[in-house]
Amino acid sequence: MSFIVGIDGPAGTGKGTITNLVAKDLNLSQIDTGAMYRAFALYMLDNNVALDDMEKIKELLDKVNIDLIQENDKEIVFLNGKDVTSEIRSNRVTKFVSPVSSIIEVRIKMVELQRKMAEGKNVIMEGRDITTYVFPNADVKIYLDADVEERARRRYKENVEKGIETTFEEVLEDMKKRDYNDMHKPMGALKVAEDAVVVDTTKLSIEEVKEKVEKIIKNKISIL
Ligand code: DC
Repeated sequence: MSFIVGIDGPAGTGKGTITNLVAKDLNLSQIDTGAMYRAFALYMLDNNVALDDMEKIKELLDKVNIDLIQENDKEIVFLNGKDVTSEIRSNRVTKFVSPVSSIIEVRIKMVELQRKMAEGKNVIMEGRDITTYVFPNADVKIYLDADVEERARRRYKENVEKGIETTFEEVLEDMKKRDYNDMHKPMGALKVAEDAVVVDTTKLSIEEVKEKVEKIIKNKISIL
C-alpha cells in the first residue's frame, strides 16, 4: 500500500519548497521529478549529446541511474553515483532541460523510474504531470499556481541571492517560454487535473501555502 500526494504547477509556484516542508511535517518521502529531468539533461550535456541524436539519447537512457536521497531535510540528487544537486540548477542545465523533457523516450523512462520510486511508500511527488499522467489515481492532487510576474519576481530574487547574474526581464521572458513549452508538450503537458485542488499562491506566504496544502492532505487522510 502506498499513499500518494501529487503536486503539479508551473515553475516558480514554490512546489519544491512546499513539498520539502510538507514532507518533513507529515513524514512523507519527497520526490522532485524536475530534478530527474535536470539530471538527465546534465548527462546529455556532459556527453555532448544533441537533442535530435536519438540513438545516443537511447544509449544514455539505458545507462542512466538517478537516485534521490533524503539527507538532513534536503534532497540530494545523484547521477550515476555523483552528487549533482547544485550542478542541475546551473543556467546551462536550466536552459537545456525544457526541450529534453519534451522528448517522448526520456519521459517514458523518467515516468517508469518515478512509479518505481513510489512503490510501497507514502510519498509527496512534485512536477508537471504527476496528477494527470504519472499517478492519475493519486490520493491527493494539488495544482499550485501564481501570476507569471509574481513567479518571475520570486525566481529573480532567488537568482540574486545565489549570485546568478540576470535581469528581471530575462527571468520573466524565460518563465513565459517555459510555461509555453511545459503546456504544449506532446506528452506530459502541464494541465490541471479535473479533480485537483487549485491553490493560487500569488498573494500567499510560504507558511500560508504550507498550511493550506497540509489541511487538504490531512482531510484526505481522515476519511481513508
Ligand atoms: O520543476 P523544474 O523547473 O525543476 O523542472 C525542470 C524541467 O522539467 C521543466 O522544464 C519542466 C520539466 N518537467 C516535466 O516536464 N515534467 C515533470 N514531471 C517535471 C519537470
